[in-house]
Amino acid sequence: MSEAKRQVAEAAAAMVKPGMRLGLGSGSTALLYVEALGRRVASGLTLPPAIATSKATEEAARAAGIPLADMMSADAPTRLDLAVDGADEVDADLSAIKGGGACLLREKIAATIADRFVMIVDASKRVERLGRFPLPVEVVPFGWAAASAAIATGLGVTPVLRMAEGGPLVTDNGNYILDCPLEAIADARAVADLLSPIPGVVEHGLFVGLAEEVLIAGPEGVTRLTRTP
Ligand code: A5P
Repeated sequence: MSEAKRQVAEAAAAMVKPGMRLGLGSGSTALLYVEALGRRVASGLTLPPAIATSKATEEAARAAGIPLADMMSADAPTRLDLAVDGADEVDADLSAIKGGGACLLREKIAATIADRFVMIVDASKRVERLGRFPLPVEVVPFGWAAASAAIATGLGVTPVLRMAEGGPLVTDNGNYILDCPLEAIADARAVADLLSPIPGVVEHGLFVGLAEEVLIAGPEGVTRLTRTP
């Protein structure tokens, strides 16, 4: 599996051209992409400051010599040429569930402001229907139980507060994650529309209509799925 991840990571790094404004995703596949990109930077590829979508990616990018933007600054990038990221599940429409690594908020910001959003996955992530992977929803800690109850009522599932050692997992943004075991999502946009207005919900891990392309690594090498308009 790690060889497959390495292959898609290399294929994505090969897509980068000098001067591109980049979003750097999170998770094990995205970290391999950051390493591959770092090797290109070491060989002379010049890039403006990129957006890292997690503290882990930030550390990896610094170690790889990739310049990074200060996202707390008013001068932070507001558009990207290319964002590359992993995913937990991807369907034929290039809709995805993300957030298994609890980085979905920053990942969605990068994907949304990118002219081109490309996901890189191994073949195990390709599904007929989204939902077997519990849908992560980022919520503010204040009143998280009320948000959880609203999600339960709206979606008919029991959200599970994601835990870490010694208490709830706290995201890079200081929030909690509720994992929602939907099993099968018939209409991803309808689920997204139901979650977004709930007070306390910061973002959810459904990425619908965002990706232009998915690179999938399988036994026969890397295949590309592109979105049909
Ligand atoms: C991080 O929050 C996620 O969205 C990751 O992109 C996703 O979990 C994929 O991670 P792997 O590449 O480690 O499978």
